[in-house]
Amino acid sequence: MTDKPRAATPAARTTQEVPATRETGDAREAQGAYPVGLRLANRRVVVLGAGQVAQRRLPALLAAGADVTLIAPSATPSVEAMAEAGELRWERRRYREGDLADAWYALISTDDPAANAAASAEAEANRVWCVRSDDAEAATAWTPATGRSEGVTVAVLTGRDPRRSAAVRDAVVEGLRDGTIAAPRHRSRTPGVALVGGGPGDPDLITVRGRRLIAEADVVIADRLGPRDLLDELPPHVEVIDAAKIPYGRFMAQEAINSALIEHAKAGRAVVRLKGGDPFVFGRGMEEAEALAEAGIPCTVVPGVSSAISVPGAAGIPVTHRGVAHEFTVVSGHVAPDDPRSLVDWQALARLRGTLVLLMAVERIGAIAEALIAYGRSPQTPVAVVQEGTTAAQRRVDATLATVGETVRAEGVRPPAVVVIGEVVAVGARTTGREPADS
Ligand SMILES: C[S@@+](CC[C@H](N)C(=O)[O-])C[C@H]1O[C@@H](n2cnc3c(N)ncnc32)[C@H](O)[C@@H]1O
Repeated sequence: MTDKPRAATPAARTTQEVPATRETGDAREAQGAYPVGLRLANRRVVVLGAGQVAQRRLPALLAAGADVTLIAPSATPSVEAMAEAGELRWERRRYREGDLADAWYALISTDDPAANAAASAEAEANRVWCVRSDDAEAATAWTPATGRSEGVTVAVLTGRDPRRSAAVRDAVVEGLRDGTIAAPRHRSRTPGVALVGGGPGDPDLITVRGRRLIAEADVVIADRLGPRDLLDELPPHVEVIDAAKIPYGRFMAQEAINSALIEHAKAGRAVVRLKGGDPFVFGRGMEEAEALAEAGIPCTVVPGVSSAISVPGAAGIPVTHRGVAHEFTVVSGHVAPDDPRSLVDWQALARLRGTLVLLMAVERIGAIAEALIAYGRSPQTPVAVVQEGTTAAQRRVDATLATVGETVRAEGVRPPAVVVIGEVVAVGARTTGREPADS
């Protein structure tokens, strides 16, 4: 062990994080700790005692690849399971002098103070860094409150206040996860595109992963729908491109977006393609993923909360309800039922008893409702149209299948809106105190 550092002098020792027992000295002790990341892979680590402390510390030691020897006459069921799974070597006995020989690091947590003291003295003599659960003063190492998020390890030492450490750790890890703390990768970053589903519009309804990727992006290419408020929070160096404004003819728009994605990714930038709802629900997400694959550019897909479910939900409408609807079908209404380009079997849909959710249907809702009635769905079927769901401008208009075409026109409902057809609309009305629309 010639390459190991010399033992710390008593004055420089740090202590394991334990609850405060006195008011003074916290800052001094925290300052005395020298933070370091131990690379324990395949290095011998000895754990004495197999109670709650060992149970909490072992997973991180094993995750670091440490070669763990556990010495304890008995163990908690979780620790026992680790031994049974072959994750560590368990010697079912008490501590004996010599157990720490050749160890790089030791965790001493038996319920026998004399054994802990003896093991601690052996660690000191052998220059093995050791953590003690019972006597922080006697320890030569101190376990920080740790957390991880996407390749970042957060370790916090505050002296004698473990709850404070945990609170700081939680705040930082949460910030990293939700992207409020940006941790852009500058080294070993794989250039590529993240296809992120932004949810229906409320910035709180994007996923944690989506938000983090936006915070780490160099370029964000965004649609008109989705959480546009998030874009205002981005630092000035992030280039935000409005997909709707990429200059090309209307029919070239998708090709132009694909080219922009490829171009920026090839330039080594972290690109986020931010889409409304979920990228694969009427979002052309797969077309973009295919174009990127063809260009040899890695693409990550981050699912999003689709407006098909969340917008009705935000307006108090469950798309299914026990005893009312056992299915819901999401349909695009972007072409009329009699349009030769339509791939929708409206006749079959009219026979279903469950919920129909129509996207992109505002302009053709009259023709769609007529077709459904003609094919047999009751004209009294309740219908709700929810415009700009989950945003401050959310608005719900109720009708029936017979009246919805005229109601949408008269009320001036505009896209984006989700149309919900079925008895679930009335279920929602019961809880929100709404009167069902007149037939
Ligand atoms: C091109 S589709 C994209 C759907 C999206 N990928 C999703 O999963 O929500 C656009 C349609 O989604 C619906 N939509 C999206 N966001 C909406 C919102 N906040 N309120 C109401 N409808 C919305 C509208 O029907 C709109 O015409």
